[in-house]
Amino acid sequence: MKARIVGTGSYLPKKIMTNQDLEKMVDTSHEWIVTRTGIEERRIAAEDECTSDMATIAAQRAMDMAGVAAEDIDLIVMGTITGDYPWPATACIVQANLGAKKAFAYDVSAACSGFLYALSSANDYIMSGRGKRALVIGAETLSRSVDWTDRNTCVLFGDGAGAVLLEAQESESGVLSCHLHSDGNYLELLYQPGFGAKHPASVEGIGARLSYLKMQGNEVFKVAVRSLTQVSKEALTANGYTSADVTQFIPHQANLRILEATTKRLGLTKEQSFINVHKYGNTSGATIPIAIDEAYHQGLLKEGDLILSAAFGGGFTWGSTLIRW
Ligand code: UT7
Repeated sequence: MKARIVGTGSYLPKKIMTNQDLEKMVDTSHEWIVTRTGIEERRIAAEDECTSDMATIAAQRAMDMAGVAAEDIDLIVMGTITGDYPWPATACIVQANLGAKKAFAYDVSAACSGFLYALSSANDYIMSGRGKRALVIGAETLSRSVDWTDRNTCVLFGDGAGAVLLEAQESESGVLSCHLHSDGNYLELLYQPGFGAKHPASVEGIGARLSYLKMQGNEVFKVAVRSLTQVSKEALTANGYTSADVTQFIPHQANLRILEATTKRLGLTKEQSFINVHKYGNTSGATIPIAIDEAYHQGLLKEGDLILSAAFGGGFTWGSTLIRW
């Protein structure tokens, strides 16, 4: 038995913010952003739109594709660092929106690796035989955590949501393995200092801009390339495959240069790697399920194909999965 992806869905907000729009907000240029990151534009949630709204639409689309009703979902697990509230879990709001009465729901906080952490958790749940169907979601409204006066970070991120529906099936197809890692020693290279228990909301904290995402980009870059390469090899080796066996590499989309450096180290060709960072920027936990949905609808994922996915993010957290489509 395997946990097989039987449905995919995604949602991107309508509003497009281009690099030219950013040139009017901070001291940057289209040329700098494209050269250093590959990003051309990103989506920004409408004022009345938040993470649960986008996640609900992506999840409903995955359910529609699979022809599965809300009452038949056992688990909803969502990777997000920009939930609607500090608590409770945004996955519970999605559960209510969908009317998935039987399902239990929780969020996973693993930043850009959130979707793969959520997928691993849902896969273990299904493989243990406790339930048959799990919605795995990655959804973020990073535009509300980004400091729009900080050119080092505000040009990189965007909003969006993606989802896959996993179903227990007697099949060779499905999730083959998941590999997760963390190293809390790197906390301050990529994090949001306020307003959790360490620095609760305060007037001083607002003045110090503590509620915004902070990143030391070039330090993160180096560790990201190394970790993505290592964890991708780990997934291939664990299943007795090499890069040549991979149909599509669908990595977390943070920066085109990170993706190119990683695919080169893995010996993958351009045709083997899926890239959409130019359209949406870094949507953190949402990049991989959005990319899976796009790749599927572009006809790039066919039964029997081998899909490798890997992510790296704040924590630090990183992980990979190998999936037989
Ligand atoms: O999602 C997982 C976690 N995140 C990532 O994986 C992101 C990892 N990091 C990166 O993608 C890259 O490090 C960045 C895109 C963030 C930055 O690229 P970089 O080549 O590492 O540039 P840098 O940080 O070393 O900065 C180079 C210069 C600096 O100027 P000086 O000090 O050399 O004069 C920056 O101030 O570029 C400057 N700079 C900018 N200039 C124009 C930084 N941001 C901008 C900007 N526009 N938006």
